[in-house]
Amino acid sequence: MAEAAALAGRRLVVTAGGTREPIDPVRYVGNRSSGKMGSALATVASEQGARVTLISTVDPTVPPSVAVVRVETAQEMHQAVREALRDADVLLMAAAVADHRPAVRSSSKLKKRTDAWALQLVPTTDILASLQDDPVREGVFVVGFAAETDQVMQNAELKLRSKGLDLIVVNDVGRPDIGMGADDNEVAVIGAEGVVAHVARAPKRDVARQILAVVAARIR
Ligand code: CTP
Repeated sequence: MAEAAALAGRRLVVTAGGTREPIDPVRYVGNRSSGKMGSALATVASEQGARVTLISTVDPTVPPSVAVVRVETAQEMHQAVREALRDADVLLMAAAVADHRPAVRSSSKLKKRTDAWALQLVPTTDILASLQDDPVREGVFVVGFAAETDQVMQNAELKLRSKGLDLIVVNDVGRPDIGMGADDNEVAVIGAEGVVAHVARAPKRDVARQILAVVAARIR
């Protein structure tokens, strides 16, 4: 209950889902993120009295108390996050943001061809990394989410430092029973001092509650 009270009235920005980077009007480069973890975080935080903005690439299942901003691409998500952070205490970056997008977005549908062809991809902006030099981040408690298949903990700790995060939530996306697209998750929460919480496999809503308890304890 103490954790819930700590979130009451706090302004949370949550991102959810995988970005879609268009190739042409009908095709995109995307990933398997369903947006369920971000939606669960937004729902539970709102139930605990937080003022929540959810920036999502999918239509989320959340109560009407959550303000939803729909976006599609990494660039749109970056703009929406910057806008929302003007008035925020916490950022929970649960979205799976594409690292690359097609160099060219064709305005007409590409026609079938019989030869092999290559799609040129260019890097997107790393939203969390770029926030380190962005005045809108000032005073915001920032939580990243790491999706890993190998050297899970080491990679997550690297991301915590290189992106200047307050916490990182890591899950092993190599396992089919948890993480991307699944209804359950199992995570570790890492801070500068190392692992601060292990959340055993549970429905994403329960995992969200435990992640938010760690956040609440730290922003109190
Ligand atoms: N992230 C971001 N902007 C990007 C890519 C990722 O802000 N262009 C954020 C994600 O929302 C997540 C964190 O960075 O909170 C880690 O994302 P992840 O995909 O695990 O890591 P990457 O930095 O993309 O590295 P890699 O794909 O090599 O694991």
